[in-house]
Amino acid sequence: MLPLIICSVLLSAPSVRAQDAGRLAKQLCVACHGVSGDSKSPMFPKLNAQTSDYLVAQLKGFRQHVRGESDARAYMWAIASQLDDATVASLADYYSQQPATTGGTGDATLIAEGQKIFEQGLPDKGVPACASCHGAQGHGNGQFPRLAGQHADYLMRQIEVFQNGTRANAPVMSAVAHTLGKDDAKAVTTFLQSQ
Ligand code: HEC
Ligand code: HEC
Repeated sequence: MLPLIICSVLLSAPSVRAQDAGRLAKQLCVACHGVSGDSKSPMFPKLNAQTSDYLVAQLKGFRQHVRGESDARAYMWAIASQLDDATVASLADYYSQQPATTGGTGDATLIAEGQKIFEQGLPDKGVPACASCHGAQGHGNGQFPRLAGQHADYLMRQIEVFQNGTRANAPVMSAVAHTLGKDDAKAVTTFLQSQ
């Protein structure tokens, strides 16, 4: 069903224009990313309140196939290939202005551990403080994405694909991911979702 919806939306607008970003978001992106980008399923990342620069970089990354993990291939490559630069910019602008939402809360001990990793890193293991790039509150900044409120399962999958090299669009983040053990990753993503 979903591919049919996608085809009909895209085919009805062979050259998607920038001013159609809001309409496109509500007709097409909504099916997976939710109203206002506030997705309810960890299969699909939240886009609301994400930084505009980061959203632009990701949509171009899908288009250029540098984000090569299997979910990106299956879901985002075809969609992104239909979007020109102006549309990418205006979709990014649209989602960056949608209000932030927090995710579900989890185990309190895990959250406390995760907060410590986020704010201070784990010097013994060479893990840097995530806050140094992603912002003190995890709200992101420019090319550094917002992580606060994002689905923990989605964040875990991204750490894994940075580690196994299928998501190769950000060498700096791949290097960070390699320092994270599975338990550390679990703690920090549980913390982030709760923000
Ligand atoms: C059929 C489902 C589906 C539709 C429709 C869809 N997406 Fe996605 N999108 C995904 C999935 C799944 C991912 C996560 C890919 C991964 O895990 O690598 C994703 C990831 C993204 C990301 C990366 C987010 C991040 O935090 O890195 C952006 C940006 C994005 N989509 C934008 C859009 C836009 C804009 C539209 C509409 C033009 C759209 N998507 C339509 C399924 C979809
Ligand atoms: C030196 C800077 C830097 C540090 C430190 C850093 N990151 Fe990142 N991170 C990035 C960049 C840059 C990206 C965006 C990559 C891109 O454009 O695709 C990113 C992306 C991510 C993503 C993917 C987000 C999404 O929506 O798909 C996750 C998850 C992530 N970082 C987690 C962490 C965690 C957890 C830590 C701390 C252990 C951390 N990062 C520390 C620079 C950093």
